[in-house]
Amino acid sequence: MSLIKIEHLQKKYTESMPLKDINAEINKGDIISIIGPSGTGKSTLLFCLNQLEIPTAGKVFLDGEEITDPKCDINAVRRKMGMVFQHFNLFNNKTVLENVICAPMDLLKIPRAQAEKEGRELLKKVGLEGREDHFPEELSGGQKQRVAIARAIAMKPEILMLDEPTSALDPTLVNEVLSVIRGLAEDGMTMLIVTHEMRFAREVSNRIFFLTDGEIYEEGSPEQIFENPQREKTRAFIKQLKTLSMTVSSLDADISGITEQLEEFGRKTLLSSRKMRNLSLVVEELIVQIASHYRQTQEDVSIHIYVEQSETENSVSLEIKYQGSAFDPTENGDELSLLIIKNMTSELSYQYTRGSENNVNQIHAII
Ligand SMILES: Nc1ncnc2c1ncn2[C@@H]1O[C@H](COP(=O)(O)OP(=O)(O)OP(=O)(O)O)[C@@H](O)[C@H]1O
Ligand SMILES: [Mg+2]
Repeated sequence: MSLIKIEHLQKKYTESMPLKDINAEINKGDIISIIGPSGTGKSTLLFCLNQLEIPTAGKVFLDGEEITDPKCDINAVRRKMGMVFQHFNLFNNKTVLENVICAPMDLLKIPRAQAEKEGRELLKKVGLEGREDHFPEELSGGQKQRVAIARAIAMKPEILMLDEPTSALDPTLVNEVLSVIRGLAEDGMTMLIVTHEMRFAREVSNRIFFLTDGEIYEEGSPEQIFENPQREKTRAFIKQLKTLSMTVSSLDADISGITEQLEEFGRKTLLSSRKMRNLSLVVEELIVQIASHYRQTQEDVSIHIYVEQSETENSVSLEIKYQGSAFDPTENGDELSLLIIKNMTSELSYQYTRGSENNVNQIHAII
């Protein structure tokens, strides 16, 4: 028997109907990532599962019991379904330890001494040993989210539902939270995770639900969904996840800002870290060359950078376009830069097109 069964679930608001007809079975041990465009009802789906939102129609079963039945003890159900939110939702007037132990003490009637002992162990598990007596506002976003995870699993839920647990975090703090979730996955926790972190989803999940148009539009293994999506909207969505475009000005090109965006892109896509390093290096070298050239000629040039991961392979195509007078940074620049650019790319090309209104420099490379 499946742990959760969803039948024709529907949620209508006055203005919209985010869930039209959701059907799914979730088995014990499943780790399912839910992906989909903004506003398609991913959060609504999680809320309708643990009845924080009341579905308009349809049924949800947990362990064979219909939890959408008004007679069902919903508090008992919620204890079995842990929830981690994007914005942590901690009790700010309680210490870290109190946040973790209050529900087990109040709802599961676990004696304080035992709850504290278990709470301390959980905090250690999420890497927060020594923070027990701190208040949430003394913590970083990543630490707060780890407290929220510890608090959810303190209830020993049968399933943990996480709604974009890393999207409110500074990029440097994302990995610490993802690695805690990876640890839970290794422990065999059943999880339903709304996430845009493609690489993480691919590594940790056994199933992906692509949600759009009020239904699970396509479902499959991570390989199928990320590398070989079958339906048109899934393909378009995945393609957009695999692209990055940025525009910088030659006069104040912020190299560290570019590198940061590339790193975030690398984390979300399926590229190897070596590939990412090479990509960062090549982009950095090219932009530095271009920017310093136009600084000398005193032209203010917009530089467009477009990166796209290829569908199946571990490779990226890079396109850099800028107007202004002709300048080929793949041939004119300092020797070390040229060496890096040439060694790390294939199909490197430069083209200058004179137009009636604009002249365009264009570089293309595969990395
Ligand atoms: N309480 C509410 N009252 C009215 N409309 C709502 C409510 N909650 C959500 N909606 C609407 O339902 C739709 C789905 O919202 P939801 O937050 O579930 O999307 P999402 O997929 O989680 O989006 P995101 O990726 O931006 O988090 C949206 O059009 C939203 O405006
Ligand atoms: Mg949401």
